[in-house]
Amino acid sequence: MTDNILETKGLTVTFGGLNANDSVNLNVPRGKFVGLIGPNGAGKTTFIDAITGYVPMSAGTATFAGEDIGSLKPHERAERGLVRTFQSLELFEDLSVRDNLLVAAYPTKWYSFILDMLYMTPKDQETEDRVNWALDIMGLTDEADAMPTDLPHGRRKLVGVARALAAKPDLILLDEPAAGLDTAESQKLGQHLREFLDHDMSVFLIDHDMGLVLSVCDYIYVLDFGEIIAEGTPAEVREDPAVKAAYLGAEAGDVQAAAAEAVVGAQSSGGE
Ligand SMILES: Nc1ncnc2c1ncn2[C@@H]1O[C@H](COP(=O)(O)OP(=O)(O)OP(=O)(O)O)[C@@H](O)[C@H]1O
Ligand SMILES: [Mg+2]
Repeated sequence: MTDNILETKGLTVTFGGLNANDSVNLNVPRGKFVGLIGPNGAGKTTFIDAITGYVPMSAGTATFAGEDIGSLKPHERAERGLVRTFQSLELFEDLSVRDNLLVAAYPTKWYSFILDMLYMTPKDQETEDRVNWALDIMGLTDEADAMPTDLPHGRRKLVGVARALAAKPDLILLDEPAAGLDTAESQKLGQHLREFLDHDMSVFLIDHDMGLVLSVCDYIYVLDFGEIIAEGTPAEVREDPAVKAAYLGAEAGDVQAAAAEAVVGAQSSGGE
């Protein structure tokens, strides 16, 4: 029997008359790296919103670590180890990189309250250790005391990922962490993300960078107009006619090019 940390069955999210997610069945096996791709507006962010409790599901179920989480509040899901990043990066500009992580690393408290705590109470060692660990994994230790505004876009994106990591989640959900990164930055990010699997985490990645997705994921789902139109290993997905059709036009070439690039990248990094 497979051990899925996340399972959705028939997950449907309706906005007005639109099914932004239409009966989505998706599994993330424990310890694996699963990707979700699809054109703009396909419903990818909505899927993360639904499983983290930011938008209500209209139908279907979501199970995390064996528990039906459909009726839990977002912070209750985070408490259980289901932690996300946001597509639009929102760092606290008045806090250092380290403090951005510390705020997120305190479990289940309201941010305003934590901001007070940060300055009023001694920080507990376990939390500090977790923050240092997250900074280290993302290669941000040297920038811990910098202000986010002083960092280039690529480093800020890493801080966004590190902030989610500082909660030491069991499953981390990443919404376009490579947006705006150049190819080298994106490959480096991919190496950091694969490392998460060595720390008892499972990873769920949404990104438009096909080179990244094809090179880091064990398994990929393809969403189009709210429905899963294909799924499989990277090799299977890039050959899938439905995927090629969904990406027809400008992006069809991208898939081919990215696939070739992913093969080269995987060979040079020794990965899959
Ligand atoms: N809160 C909302 N209210 C109404 N419609 C919404 C809401 N959020 C998303 N939608 C619609 O649902 C559909 C899916 O949007 P979603 O943001 O999930 O797509 P996406 O795959 O993440 O796209 P992108 O690649 O551009 O980030 C779109 O048609 C969008 O306009
Ligand atoms: Mg999105």
